[in-house]
Amino acid sequence: MSDPWWRGAAVYQVYIRSFADGNADGIGDIPGLHSRLGYLSDLGVDAVWISPWYVSPMADAGYDVTDYRDIDPTFGTLRNAEAFIDDAHHHGLRVIVDMVPNHCSAAHPWFRAALSADPGSAERQRFYFRPGKGTHGELPPNDWTSGFGGPAWSRVTEPDGVPGEWYLHLYAPEQPDFNWDNPEVRSEFLDILRFWLDRGVDGFRIDAADRLAKDPALPDMAALQAGSPRPDRGQPAAHDIYRDWRRVVDAYPGDRVLVGEIWLDLRHRAAYHAPGELHTSFSLDLLRTRWDAGAVRRVIDANLESSAATGAPATWVLGNHDVTRVVTRYGRADTRFVPDVAQAAGTASGDSDHALGTRRARAAALLIMALPGGVYIYQGDELGIWEVEDIPPELIQDPKWENSGHTDRGRDGCRVPLPWSGNAPPFGFSDQSAPSSQPGRSAPPAAAAQPWLPQPAQWRSLTVAAQAAEASSTLSLYRHALRIRGRELSHSDGPLTWLPTEPGALAFTRPGGLACVINLSRKPAELPRHRDVLLASGPLDGALLPPDTAVWLRTAL
Ligand code: NOJ
Ligand code: CA
Repeated sequence: MSDPWWRGAAVYQVYIRSFADGNADGIGDIPGLHSRLGYLSDLGVDAVWISPWYVSPMADAGYDVTDYRDIDPTFGTLRNAEAFIDDAHHHGLRVIVDMVPNHCSAAHPWFRAALSADPGSAERQRFYFRPGKGTHGELPPNDWTSGFGGPAWSRVTEPDGVPGEWYLHLYAPEQPDFNWDNPEVRSEFLDILRFWLDRGVDGFRIDAADRLAKDPALPDMAALQAGSPRPDRGQPAAHDIYRDWRRVVDAYPGDRVLVGEIWLDLRHRAAYHAPGELHTSFSLDLLRTRWDAGAVRRVIDANLESSAATGAPATWVLGNHDVTRVVTRYGRADTRFVPDVAQAAGTASGDSDHALGTRRARAAALLIMALPGGVYIYQGDELGIWEVEDIPPELIQDPKWENSGHTDRGRDGCRVPLPWSGNAPPFGFSDQSAPSSQPGRSAPPAAAAQPWLPQPAQWRSLTVAAQAAEASSTLSLYRHALRIRGRELSHSDGPLTWLPTEPGALAFTRPGGLACVINLSRKPAELPRHRDVLLASGPLDGALLPPDTAVWLRTAL
C-alpha cells in the first residue's frame, strides 16, 4: 500500500479573498477559484488549503465565523463550495478547509444568546465569561493580552443595561474564545467536521490549534514562575479534543488529514502528533530562521528527527497569510520573521532588496521541495510577489492596525490580490465578463471594482500571463520543480542523506538519486559529482554554484 497522499504532498494555500474574483466586486470568491482550477493543476500541486470561507462579518478576514456550515455571500454559496470540491477532485486535487475552533464571531448565535443571558447561565458557559476585578468589577479578570494588541478581555453590558462580566478573546474583541471544557462546544465541532467530511473535504487546517485549552485557573502571566508553561496555549487538555477529532476523521473512507497551526517550539508542537491525535502540523521554524547554512541545517535535522520519532511527516513552510512575504524577508539584512512583532508602522520600510530576496526565495523553494515531507506553498510565492509595504492607512483592513492603536500595520501586505494578466492593476484579478449584466442587454460590461487592496504597478512583469511564457520566471521554476517532485519525490517522506560540502552550502540526496545543493554563503560553491543538472534556481557559474542559488542534480547511479 502506498503512503497516504498527505505525507509528501505539495499543498497550495488559497487565500480566497485575494486569489481570483469571479463577479468583479474586487474580492476573490469561489467561482473565481473554480475558474482557475486549470492553473492549479498545471502548477502541479497535490492539494489546496482554502482559508476560511464561512459566513463571517470579516472582523478578521473570515477567522471570525458566525455559521460554520455555510459560505459567506462574499465568497459564493454552499452549492459553489460543493461544486468546487467535486471538480477539484476531478482535477486530481485534494481539498483542505480551514477550521476555526478556538473562537467564533461575536455575531455567532451562541455568543449573542450568551450576551442576552444571565451570568452563570448555560449560554455563557460555552465561552469564558468572568466577573472583573476591582471594587466594581471594572478591571479585567487577568492580565492576558490579545494577539492583536490590547487586553484579551472585553466587558459586556448586561441585559439590564449595567456594565457586567468580561469575556475572553485571545484575538480581536469580535472573536470570543469558546470554552472547550463545555461538552456542547465539543459535540458541535464534531458535527461541523462531519458536515464538511460529508461534502468530500480531504482534511482540515486547524487554526490556533494549541490555544483551545486554557489553564482552568486563568492565572495572571505576571504571577508565573520563570519557565512555567503558558496558561493560554499548549495546555494538555487540548490533546483529548484532538483524539475525538481523529476518531471522527478516521471513520471516513480515504485518507483525510488534520494539520495543526501551532506556533510552539518543535518539542511542544510534536506533542500534538502523538498516536491518535493530529496527523501533522506546520513547521513554522524555517521562516523564523536566518539565511545561514548552519541554522537552516539545524532546523531540517530537528524536524526530521522529530518526524522519525512521532511518525508525523515534516511540513515545510516559507510563507502564509500571516507572515511577511518571503521575497521581502530574504531581501533584508535580518531574514527572520518574528511573530508578534509589529510589521513596520508608517509607510514603506524600504529595507528589502527584492532582487536578492527573489534569488534566495527561488533557492529556498528548491530546497523545501526536495526535503522529505510535505510543502505548503502560499499563493503568490510561485510568482515571486513581494510584501506590499505602502498600503495607504485608510485601506488597511487587518484588525491589528486598529487594535494596536495604529502601531502595527498587520498582515495586509502579504494578502494583496494576485496579478493574473495585463499591464496594469487589477491585472485580471476580477473577471469582467461575469458581473451581473442583465440578460438580454448588450451593454458593455461594467468596469470591475478595484481589488480590495491595491496592487503595485510593478507587478506587471510578475503576472501569471507574463511568467507563463518566460522559461526563467519564478512560475516556470515552480512548475518545473513540482513536476519533477511529483515524479520522483512525492508520496515519500523518507530518507535524506547529507553530502559533504563547503561551509555555507548544504547538499543532500534523496532515494532515486536526486541531489539538492543550496549555497547560502557569499562565495561560489563546488558542486558534488553528478550526471545531470535537473533544475537550477538561477544561472550557474560554470561548474560552480553561485551564492543564493540552489540546484537539483542527478547524481551518478
Ligand atoms: C491564525 C490565522 O492564520 C490568522 O490569520 C488569524 O488572525 C488567527 N489565527 C486568529 O484566528
Ligand atoms: Ca467577488
